[in-house]
Amino acid sequence: MSLSPESRRRFLSLVGWTTAAVGAGEAAWASLRFARAPVSYGPPRRFGLGPPERYAAGATVFVEEAAVYVKRDEGGLRAMSAVCTHLGCTVRRESEGFVCPCHGSRYDDDGRVLGGPAPAALAFYRLEKDRRGRLVVDLGRRVEPATKLREA
Ligand code: FES
Repeated sequence: MSLSPESRRRFLSLVGWTTAAVGAGEAAWASLRFARAPVSYGPPRRFGLGPPERYAAGATVFVEEAAVYVKRDEGGLRAMSAVCTHLGCTVRRESEGFVCPCHGSRYDDDGRVLGGPAPAALAFYRLEKDRRGRLVVDLGRRVEPATKLREA
């Protein structure tokens, strides 16, 4: 069986247009997937710290996931960074203040540098409550050391 030249032309034209359409569709799909690719812009900046009752009056509690110390006093709650401002080691609680195990920087109870190579005080971060009343620290928002989350 042989096709007429006209039929062969139509068949080849159909094959050509189909191939072009499939290629264009695949290119569009790949572009969409690229534009909507799941992208992470770094580590999370907000951490749940649990219910406020977890932090007793006068206590200083280390929360490892967020690398912060949560402190409660009569004025409210604060979240202080546990990351040494020298080279980023985690500072340890001492009976008075904090000490860095890496190169010996010392900080007072409010994160001020007392000695060692640390160039700056420990940072304080914004504390807030979520809809369920649980504490959340936002490591993307620094606050003054005196800023406290006061409870009603
Ligand atoms: S990293 Fe803390 S003193 Fe160097």
